[in-house]
Amino acid sequence: MKKELIALRVNHRAYELAVEPNKLLLDVLRQDLGLTGSKQACDDSSCGACTVQVDGIPMLSCTMLAASCEGQEITTVEGVADHGALTALQKAYGDFGGSQCGFCTPGFMMTVRWLLANNPDPSEDEIRDALSSNLCRCTGYTQMYQAVRAAIEAEQKGSKRELVGAK
Ligand code: FES
Ligand code: FES
Repeated sequence: MKKELIALRVNHRAYELAVEPNKLLLDVLRQDLGLTGSKQACDDSSCGACTVQVDGIPMLSCTMLAASCEGQEITTVEGVADHGALTALQKAYGDFGGSQCGFCTPGFMMTVRWLLANNPDPSEDEIRDALSSNLCRCTGYTQMYQAVRAAIEAEQKGSKRELVGAK
């Protein structure tokens, strides 16, 4: 298939890439840009491991065409840390065991960033509801819930860390 030139913005950097028009965003991120944080797992829109943010909204990059994202800001897990420093959310994930094998973590991180950007003090049900769109086979979700709450509480106490990192 003939390649076409597309312009993408990923983690605040502009890229011009020659890609097949049917190439998926996840494949462009992983293969063309070397951003392998977003994971390829189910390929049928059911696990959330490939979740990135497109203009701030969590989207499944395994079912989106890269060409459809022209002109939008794509954020992957590589773009989350604040100048290399872990955000409060990332640190809490480590502290509470919210990340074990880690395969699901990048996708969860992008979903929770969206939740907290839109609802800085979510209820337990709202956190659990947001977490339910991503699958984890290791943690039982309780540690992730605790990590999200701990990050929110650190923010409320005036933590010097960014809660979820650059927009
Ligand atoms: S790899 Fe995209 S939803 Fe599972
Ligand atoms: S930490 Fe292993 S799948 Fe979630």
